[in-house]
Amino acid sequence: MKSILYVSSSARKYHEGAGQHQSVSRMLGERFLSEFKRHTDEVNVVYRDLSVKQPAFIDDAFMAAAFAKGSLTEQQRLVLADSDEIIREVSDADIIIIASPMYNYGMPAVLKAWFDMVIRVNKTFTFDLARGDKPLEPILSGKSLVLLASWGEFAFRRGESHYHLNHLSSHIEQLAPYLGADHFYEIASEYQEFADQRHERSRQAAVDDVIALASVLSQGSSE
Ligand SMILES: Cc1cc2nc3c(=O)[nH]c(=O)nc-3n(C[C@H](O)[C@H](O)[C@H](O)COP(=O)(O)O)c2cc1C
Repeated sequence: MKSILYVSSSARKYHEGAGQHQSVSRMLGERFLSEFKRHTDEVNVVYRDLSVKQPAFIDDAFMAAAFAKGSLTEQQRLVLADSDEIIREVSDADIIIIASPMYNYGMPAVLKAWFDMVIRVNKTFTFDLARGDKPLEPILSGKSLVLLASWGEFAFRRGESHYHLNHLSSHIEQLAPYLGADHFYEIASEYQEFADQRHERSRQAAVDDVIALASVLSQGSSE
């Protein structure tokens, strides 16, 4: 049985066949899941929709509880409860799907808030100054992370002219090891703001890539 954690983060919704102004990243996410399930019913999906339940921003009380030594007070346990739940979902997953729009050249605030809850000392990474200039080490491993993205402009892929402006893909790829992901895949649809044939072609190419990747990952291969 494979476990998929599906994290979606667009402010827009997606309902199949409901017309324009719908989330492209959610469309890709739902297509991935339906394709995956077409290949195997040996799959359990946990849905974490960050537009429905927005993660809180971490604050002073969160930091104090996360770094507390010894046993926690009842109050500290409460402060960390959402983070504990989110980390459990990540730990239990074999495949993590993140469906994300590009907002202001980076990830949506709700997704960044989710990462701030997941990447926690002694839960998803250890910190040891004895390791010299690289004191952080991920705890989790063995997972695949799939970023399904959509953006309004174009040429943001590695090697393309606007790659240096794309702080969404590079940021999530950099964080992947702290989710326990040894494999990182990215599929993106471009040109959403232009709503022209280029967008239609890019969207269709992304759907084709999603279908192919869902087939590969449902076989258990991570290459
Ligand atoms: C607040 C906001 C900021 C955006 N910033 C960018 C941006 O910096 N670059 C870009 O290419 N598109 C940008 N867009 C366009 C979105 O990336 C595009 O509409 C994408 O399809 C959104 O994902 P979704 O379809 O899953 O909602 C922005 C849209 C919004 C609402």
